[in-house]
Amino acid sequence: MHPPPCGARDNGACGVSCRAWIQKFEKIILNPGAFKTGLEARRKMNRNLPWRSENDCPLMLAPMQGLTNRALRGLFGEWARPDIMFTEFIRVRPGSRQAISMVDRLEATNDGENIPLVVQLIGRDTAALVAAAEAARESGAIHLNLNLGCPFGRMNSGSAGGALLKDPRDLDRRLTLLRQCSAASLSVKVRSGYDDPEQIFSLLPLFENTGVDFIVLHPRTVVQKYKGAADHELTARVVAATALPVIANGDVTTGEEGLQVLAATGAAGLMIGRGAIRDPLIFQRLRGHAVALPSRDARAAELQYYIAELTERYQGIFQGDTQVLNKLKTVLNMLADDPGFGRQIRKMLRAGGVAEIAALAGKLSVYQ
Ligand SMILES: Cc1cc2nc3c(=O)[nH]c(=O)nc-3n(C[C@H](O)[C@H](O)[C@H](O)COP(=O)(O)O)c2cc1C
Repeated sequence: MHPPPCGARDNGACGVSCRAWIQKFEKIILNPGAFKTGLEARRKMNRNLPWRSENDCPLMLAPMQGLTNRALRGLFGEWARPDIMFTEFIRVRPGSRQAISMVDRLEATNDGENIPLVVQLIGRDTAALVAAAEAARESGAIHLNLNLGCPFGRMNSGSAGGALLKDPRDLDRRLTLLRQCSAASLSVKVRSGYDDPEQIFSLLPLFENTGVDFIVLHPRTVVQKYKGAADHELTARVVAATALPVIANGDVTTGEEGLQVLAATGAAGLMIGRGAIRDPLIFQRLRGHAVALPSRDARAAELQYYIAELTERYQGIFQGDTQVLNKLKTVLNMLADDPGFGRQIRKMLRAGGVAEIAALAGKLSVYQ
């Protein structure tokens, strides 16, 4: 086991320090009026979040298929310390013998480390979604989330994820029934619309009336996929337009950007995906518990620890060198443009085995 580089085991609850930082950022935000409205909105809304008191703004690790499995979440729980974590989406197929697979049951089981886990479902068939929610609950899941954002075409279960926004007619029934299955919270993770970014405003009453507890908004349309920039001006308008807590998501890659998004939108919390895979300590940087920009040596130490720990944890749940290698490469792929160590990471991406990656990672700090 390697000693964790800075930030590890800091149990810092995000709220208080986040607020201090946000106040600092208030001074540099171009539209202080909007910020004030947003802050008031956050005070009001966070009372309704399942986890935090009115002064807090939870920092969440985004659900990412292929990445946020229980091995990676275990490491993040101990080292990176997001306040809330999400599973990868769990596919829900009608007519399956099991409502959710054995692996998904394991994934839906809380990771420990006292970090709440939100279990995300993706599917279209209402009965199958309810059965999956009940199976997840049997495995210990108390927070459920419905994926209304995935842009990648048809799932095995028919159009699901973001495609549900194309025809949201049955959404109220799905959400009402899912709410009844959830022991603690039901949330949605939603794009701004299918092809119209203003669609979100017509969905808000639906979310409010079906008992959704909070909304995670990724302000791009489904058809946009990942093109263009996340529109956090739209996030701010959504925050102002609903009584539900809104969690801002999209394009946050540094602690400073995260604080700017929180300040500019008045969101009740922040969800980080790709930025957290590239820099797991981003949550601690946001809180001011880890330096904003690590030195080259510090970054090398962070990467070494990250890769070594992930390798060990992947070896615990995946079978054989090839599977572990592929899983490691999925993470390393996100780091391929690392400003300090991109060249070395790209070399790791060409490795033929896990031992080769370990050897290359071991040399990170001595590279010129
Ligand atoms: C590889 C990858 C896998 C993803 N898988 C999921 C998923 O399972 N469920 C989901 O709701 N969103 C998924 N997303 C979207 C992210 O949760 C997030 O909304 C998006 O990446 C924008 O946030 P970011 O800019 O902080 O990464 C995925 C994104 C990526 C890049």
